[in-house]
Amino acid sequence: MSKEMIQLLTSSHAGLSQCAGYFFENGGGKFIRPTMVVLCSKAVSGGESPLLPTQRRLAEITEMIHTASLFHDDVLDSSPTRRSLPSVNSLYGNKLAILAGDFLLAKASVSLSRLRNLEVVELMSTVIEHLVQGEVMQLNNDVYVNKGVDEVMEYYLRKNFYKTASLMANSCMSSSILSNSEPELIEATYLYGKHLGTAFQLIDDVLDYEGEEGKMGKPRYADLRGGVVTGPLVWAGEEFEEVREMVGRGLRGEGDLEKAIEIVHNSSGLPRTLQLAKKHAELAVQALEPLQDSVYKEAMGNLAVRVIERDS
Ligand code: FPP
Ligand code: MG
Ligand code: MG
Repeated sequence: MSKEMIQLLTSSHAGLSQCAGYFFENGGGKFIRPTMVVLCSKAVSGGESPLLPTQRRLAEITEMIHTASLFHDDVLDSSPTRRSLPSVNSLYGNKLAILAGDFLLAKASVSLSRLRNLEVVELMSTVIEHLVQGEVMQLNNDVYVNKGVDEVMEYYLRKNFYKTASLMANSCMSSSILSNSEPELIEATYLYGKHLGTAFQLIDDVLDYEGEEGKMGKPRYADLRGGVVTGPLVWAGEEFEEVREMVGRGLRGEGDLEKAIEIVHNSSGLPRTLQLAKKHAELAVQALEPLQDSVYKEAMGNLAVRVIERDS
């Protein structure tokens, strides 16, 4: 964590600062979002321009917004662990976890306004709205019970855009806006972030069924336990009729969890979700075509491969 960021997270209440800085001081996560912002900042000029101070701050802002959303998410999901550590809510309680998320978000907003770029402020504020919208969409399972598979998949992918891809798309786009890039390159970085984010969330949804808890640092089958329907279960429902019934009762009937796990593993749900993730990773790489070749563009391509191959 940079000195500026430590300063930014200081409050008159020591407990709040400690809680808000918890992940940053304990090694943090994969830092994929700030990495994308930094890579975009370099790649749009073919590696010629230096990383601007505003872009470095934007990278920090993306990680702060993401971390704030995880604090709230772990409360919503009653998650005991995150990144192989006790979650903030299990350590400090739900109330402080929510307030620390709010605090991080407030600090990110102050930092965002200091970039003095209204377009970037608008894009990154919209991301926050999208994060909330995605979570609210996830609360409602009716669509999975009443609609055909195409409509259901459209809903699921839109939810994934709001939950995950919007932050990546809009922060990559904001980075190239801060570089004063050509509209074609700005659009390219948006599409790169959007497709990479979609691939990232699809892999997350696969890992919830197949990942090793030790590597993921969070519990397996957390989505199902929370009644959250994702790609693997949607596609499993095409092959096994009883899925709709189970989803209709929020997967809370006796033996529903075990049955759903068995059905998903016996269906084409997991390979189909993985296939779709690979397609979006390819689209992310294709989106970069207008950018001139550089080691940074290459690194952005490699990141797309890593997103697919990741096990944590
Ligand atoms: C992780 O999803 C959660 C998100 C990607 C977004 C969470 C957003 C909110 C809680 C809305 C509030 C937003 C802000 C900015 C305060 P997951 O539960 O599927 O993944 P996990 O397995 O990593 O928990
Ligand atoms: Mg969660
Ligand atoms: Mg969640």
